Amino acid sequence: MKENIFQKVDIYISNLLAPEDKALTDVIKSLDDANIPQMSVSANHGKFLQILMICCNAKRVLELGTLGGYSTIWMARALPDNGKLITLEVNKSYADVARKNIENAGLTHKVEMKIGKAIDILANLISQNEEPFDFIIIDADKPPYLEYFEYAVKLSHQGTIIVCDNVVREGKILDIKSSDERLIGVQRLNESLKENKNVTATILQTVGVKEHDGMVIAVVNQN
Ligand SMILES: C[S@@+](CC[C@H](N)C(=O)[O-])C[C@H]1O[C@@H](n2cnc3c(N)ncnc32)[C@H](O)[C@@H]1O
Repeated sequence: MKENIFQKVDIYISNLLAPEDKALTDVIKSLDDANIPQMSVSANHGKFLQILMICCNAKRVLELGTLGGYSTIWMARALPDNGKLITLEVNKSYADVARKNIENAGLTHKVEMKIGKAIDILANLISQNEEPFDFIIIDADKPPYLEYFEYAVKLSHQGTIIVCDNVVREGKILDIKSSDERLIGVQRLNESLKENKNVTATILQTVGVKEHDGMVIAVVNQN
């Protein structure tokens, strides 16, 4: 594929400021080897997540959607030694691949994987009075994005940053007549943010080595 200008510039930025080491390139290879779709965030987005974590002094991180552990590794690396990241994955074979990748990156002590439907695990975390998280990324299935976001707010404190990936979808988000459940899920979330007094939120469009997309960035307000 001929690289367009967004891809070329993204590669320039990543080479300069977000270079991948072997543990990260091994994740990409492990996905190909296991026939798992390449749906990880880009290197530059991994670095961006680290920067957001540093901005909110994140010691406790919650991730919805582990895949092969690529974003997990970026984020766990930005945690202090006593930090903790809980990552949720519904697909057991993906989780097995991720576990090996996280171990290969030397981060097992910081990462707890929970396998199952995110919606059930989130409900459990709340019923068990889980300590609030400082940083939450929602990057799992799209139809329940609004429900995931509502759970995320319940698992937050003032100043928690919540990121929701893939909410622009090459501009398809503008198609209000679409019957695509993923699109409808993301549209429900985006629309809800207009009235949500619990957070200050915006949506940042993204271009680069991945297709044109965008992410919600929300900060939890004082109650
Ligand atoms: C886009 S990928 C995550 C990419 C990963 N965050 C990264 O950047 O490396 C989405 C993941 O969410 C998982 N997923 C889908 N539905 C889920 C659900 N109901 N609960 C938990 N995980 C789910 C998929 O199996 C897939 O691994």
